Amino acid sequence: MSAPQAIRTLDKDGEEITTVGFQRFGFDSEVPLDVLRALYLRSHYVVTAGEQSVSEVDARQESDHARFIQGNTAYQSKSIYHPDTQSISYTTLSRFPPVKLLPPSGRKRVLVTGGAGFVGSHLVDRLMLLGHEVTVLDNFFTGSKTTVSHWIGHPNFEMIRHDVVEPFMIECDQIYHLACPASPPHYQFNAVKTIKTSFMGTLNMLGLAKRTKARFLISSTSEVYGDPEVHPQHEDYWGHVNPIGPRACYDEGKRVAETLAYGFQRQDGVDIRVARIFNTYGPRMNPLDGRVVSNFIVQALRGQDMTVYGDGKQTRAFQYVHDLIDGLIALMNSNETRPVNIGNCDEFTIGEFAELVREIVEKVQDEDGVKPARRVQVIYSPMPTDDPQKRRPDTTRAKEVLGWQPRWTVRMGLEEMVRYYKAKMAEGSI
Ligand SMILES: NC(=O)c1ccc[n+]([C@@H]2O[C@H](COP(=O)([O-])OP(=O)(O)OC[C@H]3O[C@@H](n4cnc5c(N)ncnc54)[C@H](O)[C@@H]3O)[C@@H](O)[C@H]2O)c1
Repeated sequence: MSAPQAIRTLDKDGEEITTVGFQRFGFDSEVPLDVLRALYLRSHYVVTAGEQSVSEVDARQESDHARFIQGNTAYQSKSIYHPDTQSISYTTLSRFPPVKLLPPSGRKRVLVTGGAGFVGSHLVDRLMLLGHEVTVLDNFFTGSKTTVSHWIGHPNFEMIRHDVVEPFMIECDQIYHLACPASPPHYQFNAVKTIKTSFMGTLNMLGLAKRTKARFLISSTSEVYGDPEVHPQHEDYWGHVNPIGPRACYDEGKRVAETLAYGFQRQDGVDIRVARIFNTYGPRMNPLDGRVVSNFIVQALRGQDMTVYGDGKQTRAFQYVHDLIDGLIALMNSNETRPVNIGNCDEFTIGEFAELVREIVEKVQDEDGVKPARRVQVIYSPMPTDDPQKRRPDTTRAKEVLGWQPRWTVRMGLEEMVRYYKAKMAEGSI
């Protein structure tokens, strides 16, 4: 098979993206993009359907992905699926990706709660490659060990099954507190537990920060603005939240979590950072959790019609996960203690977004020589309760105080997402 042509990823200014991250406030967050991709953009196991097709399937996937990861396959496990016995021979990594060798003074002991989730796992990859000591605390409610299992056994890495609703003690320098289900079906599954996670979990982790004098960053959300009356939403806007609706367990939970953080700052001098994260998408998002980006892509890849809730005129802005991680790391290491919006301002109506996803899925299928039986249609369904009509961040503060702006276009991010889900479907894991 001829060498596959590398796919170039261009940022908003047409510059090629080869690394993510940057140097801010004396903290370097830059890592090569292809090494990161090698950690998430590939099937976890090789399908073995008889000798002939082993090599065909494997070679096909290898070729699709080589274009993205520039041949960085040494850091990927190749567990083997045996269809005849429906069993898997798991293989652990034979070699970890190279991590930076930091002097003890530069190496942080970082605790990431919710580190096995979608955002957390990308943060863990980045912090590990940067050479820090990372401990993941997760109860695996929505996260999965597989998202960070490629680090298990590494001397800088630890994973602990723990529910943040219970107190926890550890020595650490920085705490990224992400533990909380983030998608509506998951946080509404047990509303009382979601509030307990937001309140008691944050209380416990702030207590830990107080005791260890660790810097504490909470992943808050644009949902604190509710169904906003001002556009775009600036950090000084207090929000418009229904306190008794089905989304309240999450929205009000995050609002009280912020209140707690500022309480600990005022009373106990805890060093806090508050990130208000807007809609984020990227590889490792659970495809079944009802979030719009994963819904659309999986439906389009399966050849199913794409469901838009409402009339499709409600708008959303989507940021790619690497931009979010850049923003979180910059905020953690800055001196900014006010809330900071981290999101992408490029606004789409949901209807337009569905069309864009369909176009990109068709492009990727075309590049890979796949001919779908028919063109998927965009269909409309009734809107769920309290779904906000309009949401767009005002990121002036992040730009001014962090020197941060999103680099990824929605199109490039979506293309990477489509390839990720395609690989997951090929291995049969979704
Ligand atoms: N993804 C987004 O678009 C977005 C937007 C705004 C805010 N956020 C926030 O970012 C954080 C991460 O979101 P995500 O998208 O990665 O969600 P996710 O559901 O993929 O990850 C959340 C992680 O927290 C863990 N968790 C949940 N409850 C826990 C508990 N009680 N104890 C220990 N671990 C627990 C889950 O198992 C999972 O690994 C959340 O706090 C979320 O509110 C995300």
